[in-house]
Amino acid sequence: MSTPDTCVRARAEIVRLTSGINGLDDSIEGGFPFPSVILVAGSAGTGKTTFAMKYLCEGAKKGEQCLYITTLSEPTQWMMRYAMQFDFMDPSYFDDQIVYMDLGDKLRTMKPNEILNVIDEKIAEVMPTRIVIDPLTVIGNMMGGDYRQFLFDLTNRLKNWNAVTVVTGEVQPNELYPTEIAYAVDGIILLLLSDEVVTRRKYVEVLKMRGTNHATGRQPIDISRREGIIVLKARF
Ligand SMILES: Nc1ncnc2c1ncn2[C@@H]1O[C@H](COP(=O)(O)OP(=O)(O)OP(=O)(O)O)[C@@H](O)[C@H]1O
Ligand SMILES: [Mg+2]
Repeated sequence: MSTPDTCVRARAEIVRLTSGINGLDDSIEGGFPFPSVILVAGSAGTGKTTFAMKYLCEGAKKGEQCLYITTLSEPTQWMMRYAMQFDFMDPSYFDDQIVYMDLGDKLRTMKPNEILNVIDEKIAEVMPTRIVIDPLTVIGNMMGGDYRQFLFDLTNRLKNWNAVTVVTGEVQPNELYPTEIAYAVDGIILLLLSDEVVTRRKYVEVLKMRGTNHATGRQPIDISRREGIIVLKARF
């Protein structure tokens, strides 16, 4: 199996792919198991898209191929406008290494199996080591009864590719993660907001990472133009 540059070989021969999030890789034995599907869950504005962008740029910087799939029917320029705010984002990545795919229209018109085939065909074309689906949970609102079966089929297909897929999940402020996806993924990372209104802080917590002796408990994060998301303990 060919492996990208950012992989490190850890104990028990699990190949890992660095997340690019400063301070997170130390908490998960060097990176995400390769290949795998990782859920990044959080309520509105907790940093899910920033996480996903940093993850893809980490790969692009190392010469890897990346695929960003949005479910929101957003034109490329709209996404680029926000992405370009970050210092780590190089516009030239979008010429070649980060391929953008808008699934929004297809979700409205295609059957679940056709959507799976479209995703598979795009992956076969791009051959990415890093894939993002952001936000995955929008599909549930459109698909109704077939959603659970779709998630099961999607995660199984994604695991057959030589890639680590980060899927983002939107939740209500009182929920931790979308339970209908949790069982099928290899890892769950929560992005959290504290309850205090005036001094509200942002946190990350690794809830599950198969094959990994990961840190437990929430760790404070910062979101900035320079680094995207950073785990604050990493600042030493
Ligand atoms: N350049 C920046 N500097 C500081 N903080 C930022 C910057 N860009 C974004 N943020 C913070 O990150 C938040 C949004 O991050 P992001 O869009 O990644 O969240 P999200 O979880 O994807 O949100 P949504 O639920 O809308 O999809 C902003 O509300 C802001 O608090
Ligand atoms: Mg988002």
